[in-house]
Amino acid sequence: MSAIISIKNLSKTYDGGFQALKNINLDIMKGEIIALLGPNGAGKTTLISTICGIVTPTEGQVTVDGYDIQKDYRQTRSRIGLVPQELTIETFETVNNVLEFSRGLFGKKKDPAHIEKVLKSLSLWEKRNNRLMTLSGGMKRRVLIGKALAHEPQILFLDEPTAGVDVELRKDMWNTIRELREAGVTVILTTHYIEEAEEMADRIGVINNGEIILVDEKNALMQKLGEKNLKLHLTEKLSAIPESLSKYELQLNGEGMELLYTYDVQQEDTGITAMLDDIEAAGIHYRDLETKQSSLEEIFVNLVKKK
Ligand SMILES: Nc1ncnc2c1ncn2[C@@H]1O[C@H](COP(=O)(O)OP(=O)(O)OP(=O)(O)O)[C@@H](O)[C@H]1O
Ligand SMILES: [Mg+2]
Repeated sequence: MSAIISIKNLSKTYDGGFQALKNINLDIMKGEIIALLGPNGAGKTTLISTICGIVTPTEGQVTVDGYDIQKDYRQTRSRIGLVPQELTIETFETVNNVLEFSRGLFGKKKDPAHIEKVLKSLSLWEKRNNRLMTLSGGMKRRVLIGKALAHEPQILFLDEPTAGVDVELRKDMWNTIRELREAGVTVILTTHYIEEAEEMADRIGVINNGEIILVDEKNALMQKLGEKNLKLHLTEKLSAIPESLSKYELQLNGEGMELLYTYDVQQEDTGITAMLDDIEAAGIHYRDLETKQSSLEEIFVNLVKKK
């Protein structure tokens, strides 16, 4: 796969001196879905707005399909559909007109069949003649998605697309986004719903304090997520782990009162039974044991805390 968006040494300092992006380097591959996670104020919207040409970078370079976002703004912008985080939308227009108008803005010929397809995929077809002010919040958000898709962009940015959308519709939207990916659209989304990233993304990027602190394939992350801990609460303090147990790579915690065994849940044989036998053979006794699995949520929270 080749990069459709290439971000090199990108920094942004807002007027007033706040540095919202610090030397970001990231390649986004054609046809992938990448989810950007990060706490409030991390810089996600700033990053997206910069790529879309709404925010001017202070340093660095971004190309979209080989075009420079500043020098070739019209070329890059026409390839991009943006669903902004904030709902700002003309209220008196009808749903259908909003989409048609947006398509026209990008110089595309009228295509009612395309607009119909988009509206149907977003379950908005029945509302096509409604004025926006008569729609619910979740519907308005879907209109924004439709508006972003009206000019058939190759790249779609979704800045918290499902905030305020109910569970069922959220699932519909996930399907719509997957269909877009199947049609070859590259999708960059931000979300505070970790399960959304888990469900949708091919890759996950974590942003904190204006820096990308991790980018990884979701499946690789899930494998880390697949890690489980078994904790043994010992009856007596242990000063060192006996040689006979070295192959289990145990950790001695809690001032010698806890043994921790980490294993991969995807493994067929976790080795737990053999380990417990060996522990007994070594004369170590425990009064209790507990298992725990780390979630993507925990991985994420730990990552962000550490920094
Ligand atoms: N126009 C601006 N002028 C000055 N500072 C700004 C401006 N826009 C954003 N910032 C600051 O830049 C930082 C990053 O903001 P940004 O909106 O990119 O965060 P975010 O990751 O999208 O957060 P959220 O999850 O809340 O949407 C914040 O500290 C914010 O206050
Ligand atoms: Mg934001």
